[in-house]
Amino acid sequence: MHHPTYGTHMKIKSQLSQIIKKVLEDANIEAEDIVISDATKPEFGDYQFNGVMRLAKILRKNPRQIAMDVVKHIDTTGMITKVEVAGPGFINIWLDNRWISTQANSILEDKRVGVGLVENSQKVVVDYSGPNMAKQMHVGHLRSSIIGDTLATLLEFLGDEVIRQNHIGDWGTQFGMLIAHLEEQGADGNQNLQDLEQFYKDAKVRFDESEEFANIAREYVVKIQSGDEHCLNLWRQFIDKSLGHCEEVYAKLGVNLTRNDVRAESFYNSELPNIIKILKDKNISTNSNGAECVFVDGEDKPPVIIQKRDGGFLYATTDLSALKFRAGELEADRICYVVDARQGQHFKQVFSISKQANIVGESVALEHIAFGTMMDRSGKPFKTRDGGTIKLIDLLDEAVIRAKETIKKRNEYSEAELNRVATAIGIGAVKYADLSISRESNYLFSWDKMLSFDGNTALYMQYAYARIQSIFRKHNAEIIGEIKIDDELEHKLALMILKFEDTLTKASIEATPHTITSYLYDLVTLFMKFYEQNPILKDGVEKEVKMSRLQLSKLTANVIEKGLDILGIEVVDRI
Ligand code: ARG
Repeated sequence: MHHPTYGTHMKIKSQLSQIIKKVLEDANIEAEDIVISDATKPEFGDYQFNGVMRLAKILRKNPRQIAMDVVKHIDTTGMITKVEVAGPGFINIWLDNRWISTQANSILEDKRVGVGLVENSQKVVVDYSGPNMAKQMHVGHLRSSIIGDTLATLLEFLGDEVIRQNHIGDWGTQFGMLIAHLEEQGADGNQNLQDLEQFYKDAKVRFDESEEFANIAREYVVKIQSGDEHCLNLWRQFIDKSLGHCEEVYAKLGVNLTRNDVRAESFYNSELPNIIKILKDKNISTNSNGAECVFVDGEDKPPVIIQKRDGGFLYATTDLSALKFRAGELEADRICYVVDARQGQHFKQVFSISKQANIVGESVALEHIAFGTMMDRSGKPFKTRDGGTIKLIDLLDEAVIRAKETIKKRNEYSEAELNRVATAIGIGAVKYADLSISRESNYLFSWDKMLSFDGNTALYMQYAYARIQSIFRKHNAEIIGEIKIDDELEHKLALMILKFEDTLTKASIEATPHTITSYLYDLVTLFMKFYEQNPILKDGVEKEVKMSRLQLSKLTANVIEKGLDILGIEVVDRI
């Protein structure tokens, strides 16, 4: 079993639950699981135990009486500073400022801001991006690239061994047509590959208008499949070019996918007959009207076709082969597919077949990390104004231009700095907008919203970070000394910082980047309040208090920086 490392927040909860359990046991009350929750309002303290009512029912006792008895016996000289009974029998718990200060001070110099490594590291395959070579990358691939990259970075940071797999679509009959078109254009061919969408359309026009061209295209399909060197070379050239386009997008986005991570559909070609054999031998597949089929959902539901009548293989066959490779050769413990929610049925079926056929061992976790569709303001799938599919590279360029407009007036920037800052903000905005909604919902693409200084945006976090840096510039001296919490906001802020590790753990288990963005939003909102009410550099602030507040600001900045880094978003020192 995989044991994630629990951080301070979970440790506090478990400690509190032990304390309450002990008190109950001393009073001869048998209580199995004591669940401690986060307090939902400031007046409820930091943590809360609301299981007394349930206990009271079992014991047929007055809940308030039990709660009072428990509270009376809790030691309030260390970690806990105050306990109170509230309502019909809630127990509210306040943590001690000194205790929290000690915890915070222990991570002041820690580059990982208190985040440990998982105890049993896993081998995790993250399948993401997966563009199709015949076509332009679309927003679905954008979402996959952004979410997948975050998941990979996050798991790596927590200590898993991550294997990135870019399952590009580089095989199929359409390549005959494309290669015929490429060859027909001779030297100009490569030039025209700039616009793949157009190239595909042009090839299709040629295919439809000329019988001769169509025949050559069909011949090419057969030739590529039978390993004809000349045709394979043209095909490679085509793939190389279109992959190059994707890599431009990766570079602009700051997505860490390289050629080494590409394991294209064609990689599995030679294994596909073997997959059919395995499924036939195990009587998992059956011949139905000449096609090899697996009836996963019962005889009356459409089957998964793994081999067509003409002998051709399908998307599902390739994925079964990829599963075999990943579980076998790559020895993955967990395989995550960051793919559009609309492929949910496909993955459900393929996963189920792979387990049934023992292509993938019992213990391997197979997860479809599904995400919704990107919508425009009218609620339709995201397109350009003229209705065409948007080119991602243009979208990203526009993000940077818009970011420039947003920040130009605020500061004197050199040309180079303006470019750097606008890139961080523009690209960060696109990524953050994508990561901050719960991934399975569809999301509304809005420039104004994503480039806003307020709200749950990248800019809000980047701005807070830059603001902290400006405090440090003004302070212009070393920050030495310790955190000494002595008010409500500092108390809350420090506790929030201590929740970072558990936030990352939760995000890694559930594969939910929005867990991280929500956390950052709460953290920064708290910091802004703290900063408004607790002057740091103002005259008259005692040196010790000043240092403590500077340290608390530094920890906040460290968490923002690390958190954004995991989301693939850069921070800047000045906005
Ligand atoms: N190329 C596919 C598409 O655009 C995505 C590939 C996802 N990965 C996989 N192993 N099926 O829909």
